[in-house]
Amino acid sequence: MSFTLIEQAPARLNRSELAVPGSSPQLFEKAAKSAADVIFLDLEDAVAPDDKPQARKNIIQALNDIDWGNKIMSVRINGLDTHYMYRDVVDVVEQAGKRLDLIMIPKVGTASDVYAVDMLLTQIEQAKGYTKKIGLELIIETALGMQNVEAISAASKRNESLHFGVADYAASTRARTTNIGGANPAYSVLTDKDEAGNRAVHWGDMWHYAIARMVVAARANGLRPVDGPFGDFSDVDGYKAAAYRAAVLGCEGKWAIHPSQLALANEVFSPSEAEVAKAKRILAAMAEAQREGRGAVALDGRLIDIASIRQAEVLVKKAAQIAG
Ligand code: GLV
Ligand code: MG
Repeated sequence: MSFTLIEQAPARLNRSELAVPGSSPQLFEKAAKSAADVIFLDLEDAVAPDDKPQARKNIIQALNDIDWGNKIMSVRINGLDTHYMYRDVVDVVEQAGKRLDLIMIPKVGTASDVYAVDMLLTQIEQAKGYTKKIGLELIIETALGMQNVEAISAASKRNESLHFGVADYAASTRARTTNIGGANPAYSVLTDKDEAGNRAVHWGDMWHYAIARMVVAARANGLRPVDGPFGDFSDVDGYKAAAYRAAVLGCEGKWAIHPSQLALANEVFSPSEAEVAKAKRILAAMAEAQREGRGAVALDGRLIDIASIRQAEVLVKKAAQIAG
């Protein structure tokens, strides 16, 4: 390991993150009873400009009055380029900060964006005498944000998670797609011709680089990487495939823009019984190997070594966190 130790953000379960528009209070009770690990009440892009003041009031009332149980509660404020943002933070945190765990900042572009919100939050927490510190979820969804993702990740002790905002990211990078997440048939290559002269199409994942880069920045700073929205909520298999590929790259969860996506996210981001059983066998085999003074052994015809212990521990610890 490096001499530099990585301080980890609080270990919260973040498999599914439900987006709920602040302008739709009729959805709040159902969200509170849902299977979501985290809920963000939205003041940003799901809320029309004229509805923002009312949405703020709805959110304040809901945070204070609804029994959210053990849900991790977040509010997505408006971007720092808008005049809504300061009032989002001041009104919501002053009037409902006690039940708020996180603030989600959209379109973070630079470390200073995070610094600005941190400063505001610090003042409000001090003024109100709050003892619990509100954490930050940061959406990486612009070219500027991706360019600065390392500095952004390290910008505040409040930082807890990075989120890949695929829709805005596509717009910001001028990607030729109007889908929200998912694969794109135009992002493909052709194989050479086979003997019969046929060529196969191989679809690629146009978001691979962005998600992988975000994961590295998040993990290097002890934060949770979380994959963002998948717009086609009738496409169960498409959602699961997108979620699995994010999980395989290291993400801890994915957004749900519809309640039907919650069970899918919780399933995909919980290690399966088979994965946990295999991880436990690896740990047992390595414990045995170490008792015999060996650093590597074969298990099921494959090499495992001390790095395998660390890989297996990730899965076993995640399963314990979910169970506990
Ligand atoms: C989320 O905010 C996105 O733009 O995808
Ligand atoms: Mg966005």
